[in-house]
Amino acid sequence: GTGRFIVGGNWKCNGTRESVKALVEALNKNVPNIEKNCDIYCCPTFLHLPYVKDNLNERFNVCAQNSWVEADLVDPEHHYDSTTGAFTGEISAEMLEDLQVPFVLLGHSERRTLLGDTDEIVGKKVAHARYHGLSVVVCVGETLEERENGTTFDVIFKQLKAVAKEIDDREHSSWGSSVVIAYEPIWAIGTGKVATPEQVQEVHSKIRSWLAENVSEDVAKATRIQYGGSVNASNCADLAKLSDIDGFLVGGASLNGDDFAAICNAS
Ligand code: G3H
Repeated sequence: GTGRFIVGGNWKCNGTRESVKALVEALNKNVPNIEKNCDIYCCPTFLHLPYVKDNLNERFNVCAQNSWVEADLVDPEHHYDSTTGAFTGEISAEMLEDLQVPFVLLGHSERRTLLGDTDEIVGKKVAHARYHGLSVVVCVGETLEERENGTTFDVIFKQLKAVAKEIDDREHSSWGSSVVIAYEPIWAIGTGKVATPEQVQEVHSKIRSWLAENVSEDVAKATRIQYGGSVNASNCADLAKLSDIDGFLVGGASLNGDDFAAICNAS
């Protein structure tokens, strides 16, 4: 691993005012139990984001679950121009920047499969969010069918390439500190079927080699790679020992303050 562990809690489309308040309280109560050598981010829905940012202990960062980028797609000439405007129902990277939200999660498989985020869109969203000073967590991963037909690495490298392509050379030096990669095999998400340590290590080390060959050695060394997919308080310790794992992206178990704190301590 690269040194400093990073754990994210993706709350997905969950929460009422009451349950979010209770989760924030449970996380805050756990702050004294959480080791110092771990960066942490929590991803509430956009609706709950300001409340969580104001009430969650500063030990935790907040992270948006998505951001908008259409202007880059419709008009490449205006790359990086404002994406605020007539995009009903969307939230722009500028708004996240204005709210001082430090992180954004991009390319989650649920957005790729259910909401039409293509590799190209994810790449552009990453570039745009970074331009606005956000750190990004980019999710990559294969379906069960792709794993079984032997195309896991084709899929993942294509997803990575679409991101690398949008980050121009002068920005590569800061990639290591502002881009986190989350490897999430789709068959392991929310299924209770966690990938084996061997499967995780194989993918993470190949992602790192890909970065070394296609971005730079420095970026490969500095980039933190999280594993996500049915991580819980009891399976995290074995996975955390792997040499190329730098943290976890947690879905279901992040909705429980005690379990999430235990996962943050797995490093
Ligand atoms: O973003 C988180 C992942 O999709 C993992 O979800 O821990 O519920 O399997 P899960």
